[in-house]
Amino acid sequence: MNNLSFNYMFKKSLVLVLTIAFCLLLQSSFITIAQADSLVLSGEKVFEVHCAGCHVNGGNIIRRGKNLKMKALHKYGYDSVDAIADIVTNGKNNMSAFGDKLSEQEIKNVAQYVLQQAENNWK
Ligand code: HEC
Repeated sequence: MNNLSFNYMFKKSLVLVLTIAFCLLLQSSFITIAQADSLVLSGEKVFEVHCAGCHVNGGNIIRRGKNLKMKALHKYGYDSVDAIADIVTNGKNNMSAFGDKLSEQEIKNVAQYVLQQAENNWK
């Protein structure tokens, strides 16, 4: 083998190795995303499934004033992730508790989602 063809072969195999490494990396990150998705619901998904029945578009079909718009959240002290997580976990009056239906992470996700939506005025 002369020097030139060795050089060529070396480059070829380097490209091959790098391609394989890249594919493996890509695959493992897809698996991580898929797993995260199936284990913990996003805030938006939790809201759709568990909250929208009463709070569609940030409203409240049972007690209209106690909605999820920024003004009401301020007024009743639910303008923080912790406070929203607390009412979701423990419930209040006609709102049932979700502490045993949702994981802590899902409750945190939905609380963040509610705050973020309130900041955008539920658009
Ligand atoms: C069965 C209907 C119902 C469902 C489902 C429901 N809520 Fe509520 N929610 C209420 C009612 C009624 C209140 C008012 C409670 C009170 O203060 O008397 C309320 C109050 C709230 C408040 C306080 C709002 C304010 O202005 O005082 C937040 C935040 C909230 N809910 C978030 C959620 C989230 C997040 C979910 C889903 C995990 C959810 N709720 C599911 C009925 C519901």
